[in-house]
Amino acid sequence: MSGSVQVGLVGLGHIAETHLEVLAGLPDVSLDFTVDPHPDGPVDFRGGTPPHYGGVAEALEVHQPDLVVIATPTDTHADLAEQALALSSARVLVEKPLVHDLAALDRLRALDAKADVRGRVFTAHHFAFSPEVRWAAQQLGEHPEWGPVTTITSAFHDPYILRGEQAFASYGSSWMDSGINQLSVLAGLVDLTSLTSATQLDGGASAWCTFAFKSRGATGTARLRTSWLTGSSSKETVIAFGESGVEVWIDHTAMTGFAARGETLLAAHTDDGRTPRKHAHYRPLYESLLSDHPDTVLGFDAAVTVTQLHHATPPASAVE
Ligand SMILES: NC(=O)c1ccc[n+]([C@@H]2O[C@H](COP(=O)([O-])OP(=O)(O)OC[C@H]3O[C@@H](n4cnc5c(N)ncnc54)[C@H](O)[C@@H]3O)[C@@H](O)[C@H]2O)c1
Repeated sequence: MSGSVQVGLVGLGHIAETHLEVLAGLPDVSLDFTVDPHPDGPVDFRGGTPPHYGGVAEALEVHQPDLVVIATPTDTHADLAEQALALSSARVLVEKPLVHDLAALDRLRALDAKADVRGRVFTAHHFAFSPEVRWAAQQLGEHPEWGPVTTITSAFHDPYILRGEQAFASYGSSWMDSGINQLSVLAGLVDLTSLTSATQLDGGASAWCTFAFKSRGATGTARLRTSWLTGSSSKETVIAFGESGVEVWIDHTAMTGFAARGETLLAAHTDDGRTPRKHAHYRPLYESLLSDHPDTVLGFDAAVTVTQLHHATPPASAVE
């Protein structure tokens, strides 16, 4: 995309605030319109109020945006993306996860020949842009002597139990919401191959899932914990290189990390504290999306890969 980019924002809830703040800071971006059947009030964008609509079809009768951003409850993503594809020629950035089930993914894939889904649909896998994740991927690339990654342990906690049923309505479950973030982070570090077990706990408010992956020719295990049963947000991932004894710890809440072997600190990543966490994710995401060559983690093929893993059925031997 080049020149001035006209953006239509669909969904004005929690994450839309971050989209609006980041978009307002990007040169050559204008907010063409907003859509939400239940907005709290008109949206202020650089001191103005763009036209607002109750539905995306209504908005696209009037506007020809370059980019439609879908930031609505997860189970509405696929339907709204289909409408945006059919009623405009815009690119479509869909909040993560792209879809809530594999049937919705199949529907989007079937539209590719007609609507260039692979060229137009992007997914906001924002965690992949977090500075500590980029740093960890760089460390892996620069240190082949550390050997293969053998175990990854990741825990994502969000205080959504306090939001009660509204959290389930917006995000589906803790695994639906955070599992996709963990998988999009891991996909930049190792080659994920299969789901080996999946356990939903606490009525969907928590989960424990394991995956097999390949790293430098060896097979490793990823252990992913997600939960909403907490009063505060806390997210971290530990990457272990069993052959060399190196461990890389990344703290997604603090956007920091370090690598150590035994008692020796090998490398560290710090943060200057000046950039709010979500801006640190979404600003580089948008810069990449609006560039000539968006990062492949945003592309439809990457979304298909992580969505199939996200919704995979565990092998029969893993089901109790
Ligand atoms: N909250 C976060 O920190 C966060 C971070 C990254 C991604 N996300 C993803 O973003 C999506 C939205 O999350 P949220 O936290 O903003 O949810 P939210 O419930 O706060 O907001 C969703 C908004 O979408 C509106 N909406 C519902 N149906 C609509 C429709 N058909 N057309 C237009 N608007 C509609 C609702 O009225 C609401 O204002 C989810 O898929 C979530 O996984 C959220």
